[in-house]
Amino acid sequence: MLKVGLTGGIGCGKTTVALLFAQQGVPIIDADAIAHALVQQGQPALAEIRDTWGKEILTKDGSLDRARLRDLIFTCPKEKHKLESILHPLVFRDIQMAAGKVTADYCVISIPLLFETGMASLVDRVLVIDCPTDTQIRRVKHRDHLSSEQIQAIIDTQVTRDFRATHADDLIENTETNDKLAEQVKKLHNLYLSISHCQD
Ligand SMILES: Nc1ncnc2c1ncn2[C@@H]1O[C@H](COP(=O)(O)OP(=O)(O)OP(=O)(O)O)[C@@H](O)[C@H]1O
Ligand SMILES: [Mg+2]
Repeated sequence: MLKVGLTGGIGCGKTTVALLFAQQGVPIIDADAIAHALVQQGQPALAEIRDTWGKEILTKDGSLDRARLRDLIFTCPKEKHKLESILHPLVFRDIQMAAGKVTADYCVISIPLLFETGMASLVDRVLVIDCPTDTQIRRVKHRDHLSSEQIQAIIDTQVTRDFRATHADDLIENTETNDKLAEQVKKLHNLYLSISHCQD
């Protein structure tokens, strides 16, 4: 079964593209959703996070204080590394498990930080969603009501557009209308179906 890794910078349109593939009936595995599920109450990863940073990292009801954790890792690379060493192996494992259950010809695995987390080895093919930085900032501003500086700071933690473009097998320039995007997805869907049939 062909595994297509879907990635791109913040706000480039990964979630939008994943939905378009889902509309074609393609199973989507979402690394963000997996990471989210791993830190729910009762999960071993949450206990490990609590053991690492203490009870202060939890809210009163015992769930993860995401804002606090985000602040902690954003300002300190060492703390970020600690969190990654807890979560990434588990995300990796759960993606593999989910992919193992897919019965379709191919699946799309959405991994926003595919390159940054070294997860490219999980996929057979990399699809990058790209758009100019000012478009990223405009769209995320509109969606999340963050400042340009906050969005730029996030962009600065991610690999560059050039890096992604160099390592892409397929690339969607998401600069036009949603209809154009749907057309590009349809073409890639046909390509992935034909590649997956060749693999059989
Ligand atoms: N072609 C487009 N035209 C106009 N708006 C778009 C287009 N593509 C995406 N958007 C909008 O831009 C915003 C960012 O898109 P989306 O959430 O899909 O990006 P993302 O790559 O998943 O972002 P993140 O990295 O934060 O998960 C959304 O509000 C989405 O509706
Ligand atoms: Mg998204």
